[in-house]
Amino acid sequence: MTAQDIDGKSIAAAVRAELTEKLASLPDGSSKPGLAVMLVGERKDSQTYVRMKQKACADCGMDSFLCTYPDDDKLNEELLLAQIKDWNEDPKVHGILVQLPLPKKIDEATILEAVLPAKDVDGLHPANAAKLFNTATHAGAAKLDWKDMTSIPFHIPCTPQGCIELLDRIGCDIEGKNAVVIGRSNLVGLPVAMLLLHRNATVTIVHSRTKSVEDVVRNADIVVAAVGRAHMVTKSYLKPGCTVIDVGINSVDAPGTKRGYRLVGDVKYDEAKEIAEWITPVPGGVGPMTIAMLLRNTWNGWRRTTE
Ligand code: GUN
Repeated sequence: MTAQDIDGKSIAAAVRAELTEKLASLPDGSSKPGLAVMLVGERKDSQTYVRMKQKACADCGMDSFLCTYPDDDKLNEELLLAQIKDWNEDPKVHGILVQLPLPKKIDEATILEAVLPAKDVDGLHPANAAKLFNTATHAGAAKLDWKDMTSIPFHIPCTPQGCIELLDRIGCDIEGKNAVVIGRSNLVGLPVAMLLLHRNATVTIVHSRTKSVEDVVRNADIVVAAVGRAHMVTKSYLKPGCTVIDVGINSVDAPGTKRGYRLVGDVKYDEAKEIAEWITPVPGGVGPMTIAMLLRNTWNGWRRTTE
């Protein structure tokens, strides 16, 4: 079997085009969604991600605002908290994103918890996480339509939301499937596991202390790899005909190429391609979906202020 690629680039482009159209049809002079981004420190990868997020806002007609802070002697939590407070109170700002990771001297939780949950388009505030973590049998969560994530009245983290959107757009019926999530981060592993559970998959999370990871993953109809280890998942981990969502973006040396490195996933793509039915390439799979879902969350945040 040769797996079919899940084309995240074109699926993300379709989501962005839908939003662009909605924004273009707003009456002249009406308010429009605005995303505020905080970038702290000098990490090149973070700078690139932030540039991409701002460009995405401009391309679809949203406003974006940026505050950057060098990681120097003047940097402290109070400075960042004051900016978050301003954005929380600013009616032009509907989404606030603090690019992670933050420098070590800043407590990430303190900063993330200062963001107004209604503007927390990353879905990382404990109030949003708690709503996501209400189980499918909980009275509140049971009433929600998890098949239409745009109807969910709080923010869902972008990358996990993008993974589910990819599964939906290829027509994968999640209900009753064995789904194995590799990795247990707040940003991806835990929330994607919850979303799969809300869609009635049987979900297992494997992590660094799991025994026989390979045997567990080999049971999976759906594999979500979000561990950050280049090429960890090889052919022997995969059940024939499975669907592979590779969240990893790892840089590996590539002597002789222009940049000297290339980006690869957590899954050995060439091997998985021989055995899976569907697979996301890296780059061009999950990555573009993260930004598309960020725009969607910002749109939803704005829409809820207008209702
Ligand atoms: N750093 C890497 N991924 C992300 C993300 O999804 N959101 C934020 N805020 N920072 C990140």
